[in-house]
Amino acid sequence: MSASNIFTNLPDGRQPALRVMPMPADLNPAGDVFGGWIMAMVDIAGAIPARRRAKSRVATVAVNSFVFKQPVSVGDLVSFYADVVSSGRTSVTVDVEVYAERDPENPVVVKVTEARLTYVALDDKGRKRPMPAE
Ligand SMILES: CC(C)(COP(=O)(O)OP(=O)(O)OC[C@H]1O[C@@H](n2cnc3c(N)ncnc32)[C@H](O)[C@@H]1OP(=O)(O)O)[C@@H](O)C(=O)NCCC(=O)NCCS
Repeated sequence: MSASNIFTNLPDGRQPALRVMPMPADLNPAGDVFGGWIMAMVDIAGAIPARRRAKSRVATVAVNSFVFKQPVSVGDLVSFYADVVSSGRTSVTVDVEVYAERDPENPVVVKVTEARLTYVALDDKGRKRPMPAE
């Protein structure tokens, strides 16, 4: 497979918010990456566009949906793509798509997780605050 073909599963022209390689300490007893590790990374990745949109710190108020489509293995390079899909008075909702690049000798990119999270803009005292104009 050519280098260009292995990336055809990736969103066109998008940069990941986060790219991480899980370590053996992140595995579950079955030998795959622990779902909680992926959830934590999704929360971190989603907060990046959320705080840019809010122009302030944010807190996660809800995980609206979360689907593990394929397992992640140790050695996979995991990329988290995060995009704001809507914003309200104090909240911003972000879609996160996760892709694993695996098997360096015969590389392939697989979509492993998709999630939607909502964050709330907070002021310096940790109180919710209105979202600034875009
Ligand atoms: C975030 C927090 C400050 C919000 O305070 P609150 O008084 O409960 O806020 P509200 O009920 O007014 O909701 C605030 C916004 O979140 C949205 N929201 C609240 N619950 C939601 C849910 N279950 N799903 C989607 N959006 C939700 C509201 O619609 C509102 O959005 P809008 O202003 O854009 O219309 C408060 O809930 C909190 O501190 N939660 C803990 C946050 C935290 O510790 N996160 C990390 C957990 S590990």
